Amino acid sequence: MPRLAVIGHPVAHSRSPDMQTAALMEMKLAGEWTYGALDVAPEDFEATVAELAVAEEYAGVNITVPHKEAALAMADEASEGARAIGAANTLSFREGRIVADNTDAGGLLRSLPRSFRGERVLVLGAGGAARAAIWALVDEGASVDVWNRTADRGATVAAELGAGTITDPDPAAYSLIVNTTAVGLAGEDTFEALPLSPDSFAAGQTVLDMVYTEEPSALLAAAEDAGATVVDGLEMLVQQGALSLRIWTGEEPSIEAMRTAVRRG
Ligand code: ATR
Repeated sequence: MPRLAVIGHPVAHSRSPDMQTAALMEMKLAGEWTYGALDVAPEDFEATVAELAVAEEYAGVNITVPHKEAALAMADEASEGARAIGAANTLSFREGRIVADNTDAGGLLRSLPRSFRGERVLVLGAGGAARAAIWALVDEGASVDVWNRTADRGATVAAELGAGTITDPDPAAYSLIVNTTAVGLAGEDTFEALPLSPDSFAAGQTVLDMVYTEEPSALLAAAEDAGATVVDGLEMLVQQGALSLRIWTGEEPSIEAMRTAVRRG
């Protein structure tokens, strides 16, 4: 009976167990596969994963905050994306070996309504979430500019991943705007903290906010009002989870069943 889980710290709030279990049920694999949650403190992470990798019960795990860099560091093999991003959100255990992938990158691309190959994209932020977004979009062939509150950090990350840097972006110049910062979650004023204003958006643009909250974020509400296409963090969560499940089971999960489960949570 292959087991799967998400490892994080804390992990109680994670929507992955409900979402992945709904997908396994829809795939008629729920009698065979299980998906749970493991709260593992950073000091125990390496020993726990090493145990799971050899125990043969576990087929793999999703990795979330704060373990994604440590997960990559432990891997025997890693995908090109995981290596470039410097983090893994998916580990597969194959005959005691640990194989690392980063499905945040592919999940981001799949959550978008279309390809932005050859078009200008603005990424806000330069942390771990930004690295996956920048790598995915550069790999897709988009022309990516990075804006970050701490400009030096933005410039370093952009240069490393083949993107440009911008300090005072004109939002109208971009087909796609991606917010990877958590601005808005802690009650900050989105339009003070980011180089955008409520009238920055236009029909024909796509705006992706990785933050997920019960209500649409201030950013997505303004973008939607302007007629832009909006994508939220829950859609990305679904898409990255579906890619992970496909790696482990070799089968295509039902995106609809996963969407219903995360939006219920
Ligand atoms: P994650 O892995 O989730 O991306 P992170 O590595 O802590 O988290 O990165 C957080 C990102 O959000 C950074 O780009 C950070 O900007 P700095 O590099 O200047 O710290 C950005 N961020 C967080 N709070 C912010 C705020 N109030 N205003 C603007 N940017 C913010």
